[in-house]
Amino acid sequence: GRVAVFMGGDSAEREVSLKSGSAVLAALQSAGVDAVGMDVRGCLLGAVEQPQFDRVFIALHGRGGEDGTLQAILGQAGIPYTGSEVLASALAMDKLRTKYVFQGCGLPTPAFRAMTSGAEAEEVVASLGVPLSVKPAHEGSSIGIRKVGNAAELVEAYEAAAALDDLVLVEKWIEGPEFTVSLLQDQALPAIGLSTDHAFYDYDAKYLADDTHYRIPCGLAPEDEVRLQQLALDAFRVLGCRTWGRVDIMQDRSGDFWLLEVNTVPGMTDHSLVPMSARAAGIGFEELVVRILKDTLS
Ligand code: DAL
Ligand code: MG
Repeated sequence: GRVAVFMGGDSAEREVSLKSGSAVLAALQSAGVDAVGMDVRGCLLGAVEQPQFDRVFIALHGRGGEDGTLQAILGQAGIPYTGSEVLASALAMDKLRTKYVFQGCGLPTPAFRAMTSGAEAEEVVASLGVPLSVKPAHEGSSIGIRKVGNAAELVEAYEAAAALDDLVLVEKWIEGPEFTVSLLQDQALPAIGLSTDHAFYDYDAKYLADDTHYRIPCGLAPEDEVRLQQLALDAFRVLGCRTWGRVDIMQDRSGDFWLLEVNTVPGMTDHSLVPMSARAAGIGFEELVVRILKDTLS
């Protein structure tokens, strides 16, 4: 049957999703799959009315497409789709509740709290220390994330994050390096080490700059990379994710790993990390996309 690649959408990650979706579509077509692209805007229900397709490859990032909403609609319509189902998608899209689950399962994640007003800044700095990372809880691609070093900066960063999201997460800053582990069919691929001349791996570093450095092999001793991959698999498992995803993890100066978040529809652009990891494991982009699609049938 025909596969629709859902892309674009209305989230803040629309541009990234259009690139991911176009790359996925081209790969499916070159693999001989009958595939069409669909820019999914406005009411998601419209996308499943009288569908001209039998399966969906979800290449939407962020709210609506990655957060369980679309997954629920496709499930209700009886249309198989790629990746995680409703609960895991919704949990992973909420960085705060993700951390509650990690914490509850004994997985390491940086100390954190939700912040609901700028007036809490002094108290947050006193309890968590500085520097801190301030994040809108439901954004991707590092949108709205800021590093702060004192209460005044925290107030500003809080206001900026609160303008994007009704939920703001404040987290103890771990002085890098950052790693990311891609998962495919519930197996960990080779880890990537990230470094950037930006303050952290932000939106510009992700998609615009060419001064971001990716290390693959990641530079860890083999037994440490295995530990890192196991942690990523644990994170994926406790959230109940399916088929594929990418887990972002920091390592502190004493060598301990700290889970940040799980992405259930990670980027698939030519700058993206999952394709890079797959390539290092001998899996080309076309094979990667076909393997993600195959799992929708099982
Ligand atoms: N949220 C972006 C697309 C990523 O995780 O790669
Ligand atoms: Mg993310």
